[in-house]
Amino acid sequence: MQKLNPTAQNPYNTDAAFDWLYPERIQLLSKRHWTPMSVARKAAHFLSQGERKRVLDIGSGVGKFCLVGAMYYPAATFYGVEQRQELYNYALDARDKLKVKNVHFIHGNFTQLDLDNYDNFYFYNSFFENLDKGDRIDHEIEYSTSLYVYYSKYLSRALENRPSGTRLVTFHSLGDEVPNTYQLVDASDDFLYKSYIKR
Ligand SMILES: C[S@@+](CC[C@H](N)C(=O)[O-])C[C@H]1O[C@@H](n2cnc3c(N)ncnc32)[C@H](O)[C@@H]1O
Repeated sequence: MQKLNPTAQNPYNTDAAFDWLYPERIQLLSKRHWTPMSVARKAAHFLSQGERKRVLDIGSGVGKFCLVGAMYYPAATFYGVEQRQELYNYALDARDKLKVKNVHFIHGNFTQLDLDNYDNFYFYNSFFENLDKGDRIDHEIEYSTSLYVYYSKYLSRALENRPSGTRLVTFHSLGDEVPNTYQLVDASDDFLYKSYIKR
């Protein structure tokens, strides 16, 4: 097992402390839209095991999962792809403040990426905003049920093409993007957190 950085020396080891890296508007979105610290650490631990350590967060928001993973698992490299320019910019600012090197952010739609360049994947129900009218990050982009279906199928197909041993963590997912070749290996009691390994 990799050695963790000692938390006592990490001033960003709680959600409240971490959220102070961002402006108030972004802090207010945290509870609903950004991965909690404990979940990010658990997921990053699972996804950074073994030889293959390029971890992609599909819909990385302001970078919280990637940045927490990079702080605690320096031997892995974390990548985040985010469609919203503003959130991508906040992720870069937070990376500069934290001075972590093993994290890279990409601005764009995940469908523009070659997912073959990554080993393991994290997914915090990024496409759900297309179904949920209630609590959206903003009104800057187009939302639709057909986009939810398109993105979920696209991701499912891409995950299906990954080699045996590929690791996946989902959080709050409806499961539509998880191919049935991925075996569930762990889940939280409330089933919001699930980890899988491809057979
Ligand atoms: C629930 S947030 C999770 C943020 C981050 N993964 C975390 O855990 O802190 C989902 C993010 O996915 C992004 N997203 C949704 N669809 C996307 C797509 N097709 N390509 C890239 N980003 C997308 C949204 O803009 C949003 O920032």
